[in-house]
Amino acid sequence: MSSVAVPLQCVTARVPAKVNLELMVGPLRPDGFHHLATVFQAVGLHDDVSVEPAEEWGITINGPYAHLVPADGSNLAMRAARLLAGEAGIDVPVHITIDKDIPVAAGMAGGSADAAGALLACDGLWGVWSSKTALEELAAQLGSDVPFALLGGTAMGSGRGDQLAPVLGRGRYTWVFALSDVGLSTPEVYAECDRLRPSRRVPEPTPSAAMMTALRSGDAVSLGRALSNDLQPAALSLQPRLEEVLRTGMDNGALGGIVSGSGPTVAFLVDDTERSLDLAVALTASGVAPAVKRAVGPVRGARIITAASGPRGSFGSTGHETGHAGPAGLRSS
Ligand code: C5P
Repeated sequence: MSSVAVPLQCVTARVPAKVNLELMVGPLRPDGFHHLATVFQAVGLHDDVSVEPAEEWGITINGPYAHLVPADGSNLAMRAARLLAGEAGIDVPVHITIDKDIPVAAGMAGGSADAAGALLACDGLWGVWSSKTALEELAAQLGSDVPFALLGGTAMGSGRGDQLAPVLGRGRYTWVFALSDVGLSTPEVYAECDRLRPSRRVPEPTPSAAMMTALRSGDAVSLGRALSNDLQPAALSLQPRLEEVLRTGMDNGALGGIVSGSGPTVAFLVDDTERSLDLAVALTASGVAPAVKRAVGPVRGARIITAASGPRGSFGSTGHETGHAGPAGLRSS
C-alpha cells in the first residue's frame, strides 16, 4: 500500500526536568564556564513544547509559572527554534506553546528542557530529521544542560556538563522537591563557589566511586548517602534558609537531601511513594517549603508525543506516543 505524506500541522515534544545526583565543580575555564563532573538524572516532571507554522514567530507560556518566563525572543525555546531554522535554512516561522510543569529558575533545568523540546519538535515539524549528534551539538550551543534534556535517563556529564555518557544504573528512585520562593542566579552561585574555595588551585573534577557503586546496586539508601553537590555550600551561603529545608527533610525520613543544581530547589530521595507523601506534608506543614513536587527517576529524555504525521517520533525512539514516562500517581502536591 502506498502512503501519502501529510504535512505536519502541530508537533508536541515532552521533556523532563533533571536533578544532579553529584555535581563536582572544577576550575574556571577561559570561556567563563567551569569544568564539571556531574551525574544527571531525568525525573518525571515535564514541560510540553508544541510548535505549529505561523505568520510570524511567537510564543505562549501556559501554567502556574507562566508569569515567570519571558514570552519573547529571549526565551530559550524560541532561540532553539531559530537556531535550528538558521542551520537548516528554514524560513517558516512557528508559534511555540509551552505547557509548563517544571518549576522556573529552580535548578531543575526547565529552560533547558524547553530548548530541547523546541529543537526536537521543530526538527519534526520541518522534516529536517537531524542526526542525534547534530541535535546534541545545537543543544550544547544553547546551554550546558540542554543536551541532557534530549538524552534523559541517568548520565555522566563532563566538559561544562554538555559532554554526556549514559550511566547503566539500576533502580527507580522516588524524589521530593522542596521549591523555594527565593531566587538564586546560576552565575552568582558559581561565583560564590569560587569565592568559598579554600585554595585557588582547584583539582580537575572526577566522579566518585561511591556514586557509581550506588547506581550499579540500585540501592536507594546508598544513593542517598552518595548525593553530593559542590554548589551546595555556595547556595546555602547565598540563601541560608535552605539549611532549614535540608534539616527538615532529613528529620522527616529522607534517605538523602541535596540542593538541586545551583538551587534553590532542594531534592530529597525517599524510599517509596508513601514516604514521599509523608515528606511532602511535613515540608509544607512546617512552613519551610511554599510548594512541593514529587517525581520518580530516571525517565527518558525529550520525545515527540503528538504529531499529525512524520517518519520519526522522538530522540532515539519511535513516534506517536502518549503519556508520561514516569509511573502514574506521582504528581505535584
Ligand atoms: O550553560 P548555562 O546557560 O546553563 O550556564 C549558565 C551559567 O552558569 C553560565 O553563564 C556560567 O556562569 C555558569 N556555569 C558555569 N560552568 C558550567 C555551567 C554553567 O560556570 N559548567
